[in-house]
Amino acid sequence: MNQLGKPLPAHAYLPFTPDLRMCRILNGMWQVSGAHGRIDPAVAVAEMLNYHANGFTTWDLADHYGPAEDLIGAFRQRLAQQQGPAALEHVQAFTKWVPRPTRITRQMVEDAVHISLRRMQVEQLDLLQFHWWDYANPSYLDALKYLAELRETGKIRHLALTNFDTEHLRIITDLGIRIVSNQVQYSLVDTRPMNYMAAYCAEQGIHLLTYGTLCGGLLSEAWLGTPEPTQSQLGTASLRKYKQMIDLWGGWSLFQQLLNALHRIATRHEVSIANVAVAAILERPAVAGVIVGARLSIREHRHETARVFQLALTDADRHALAEVQAQGRDLLRRIGDCGDEYRR
Ligand SMILES: NC(=O)c1ccc[n+]([C@@H]2O[C@H](COP(=O)([O-])OP(=O)(O)OC[C@H]3O[C@@H](n4cnc5c(N)ncnc54)[C@H](OP(=O)(O)O)[C@@H]3O)[C@@H](O)[C@H]2O)c1
Repeated sequence: MNQLGKPLPAHAYLPFTPDLRMCRILNGMWQVSGAHGRIDPAVAVAEMLNYHANGFTTWDLADHYGPAEDLIGAFRQRLAQQQGPAALEHVQAFTKWVPRPTRITRQMVEDAVHISLRRMQVEQLDLLQFHWWDYANPSYLDALKYLAELRETGKIRHLALTNFDTEHLRIITDLGIRIVSNQVQYSLVDTRPMNYMAAYCAEQGIHLLTYGTLCGGLLSEAWLGTPEPTQSQLGTASLRKYKQMIDLWGGWSLFQQLLNALHRIATRHEVSIANVAVAAILERPAVAGVIVGARLSIREHRHETARVFQLALTDADRHALAEVQAQGRDLLRRIGDCGDEYRR
C-alpha cells in the first residue's frame, strides 16, 4: 500500500527484459537539469522516495541532466538507509551517454561509464542509452562495440539507444549488437515513430521508451482555451521545445482542437487531458514506457498520473483524436525520422 491509497496495478509494470521489471510510466529527470526551474536537492531526494513509495520505481536520466545521476546516488543511499539494501533491487535507473561526435576510444567509453557508476552509486548500470549526434561520423559503431564489451564485463546490464532513426537502428542490429530499447519523441502531435520505427522495433523485439508525450505539459488543462503563448510565457526548456514542434505540426489553433478533443474524452472517463495523452501512446505497438518529466521539488503530478492505469480508451476516443491528428502536417516529411531533429 502506498500514499496514493492503493498500489499501482500489476499492469503498470512490465518485464522490460527477463531480469528487469519496470514501471510503464518513468520519472523523467531532464527536469532537474536547471533549465526548468531551480531544484532543491534535499527536497528532490525526499520527493524521489515518495515517487518510489507510490510505485513509480523507474527513472530516466542522463549524464548531462545536471545533478540527475548524483540525485539517483543520494536517493539510493537514503532508500537503503531507510529500508535496507534489498530495497534497491526495486529501483530501475536508466541513464544515457551523450558524447561529442569525435573519434571514440575504449578508454573514453570506460571513463564515461565509470563516472556514471560512481555518481549513481551503483556497481552496474541497469540501462545505458546511447545518443549520437552525427551519422556521418561512423565512430558511433566503435562506441557501441566498446559499450557491448562493457556489458559483457557486467558494468552495464543492458544496452539501449536514444534518438536513433530506423535506418541506423537497423545497421546496428544487423551487426549483431543487442539493443533492448530506443528512446524517441512520441506524442499525439509527433507520431513519427508510427511510420517505420514502431514496426521495426516490434519485429526485432526492441522496446520504445517515449518522451515529449505531454509536450512539456502543454497537453494539459493548463493550456486549454488559452491564447497562443509568447516565448516569455514558456517557462521551461521543455515547453519551448514542444511549442516549436506544435508550430511545425499545425500551429496553436489546431493544437487547441486537439486539447478540446482530449478534454471531451477526459471528461467522459473522469480523468485528465494528460492522462489521455499518456494512455494514447502507452497503448501503441512497441511502446514499453512513457517518460513523464518530474520537476522534483517544484511540482508533482504523480497522484494524478497514476490514474492512467485505470483508463481504457475506446475506439470512439481513438477516432476522435485521429480526426484532429489527420489535419496536422506530416512531421516525417518536415523533420525526418525519429531523432532527426537533433541532426539538422
Ligand atoms: N532522449 C531525449 O533526447 C530526451 C529529450 C527530452 C526528454 N527526455 C526524457 O523525457 C523526460 C520528459 O521530458 P519532456 O521534456 O518530454 O517533458 P514532458 O514529460 O512532456 O512534460 C513534463 C511536464 O509535464 C507536466 N506534467 C507532468 N505530469 C502532468 C500531469 N499529470 N498533468 C499536467 N501536467 C503534467 C509537468 O509540468 P509542470 O512541472 O510545469 O507542472 C512536467 O514538468 C525527460 O525528463 C527526459 O527523461 C529525453
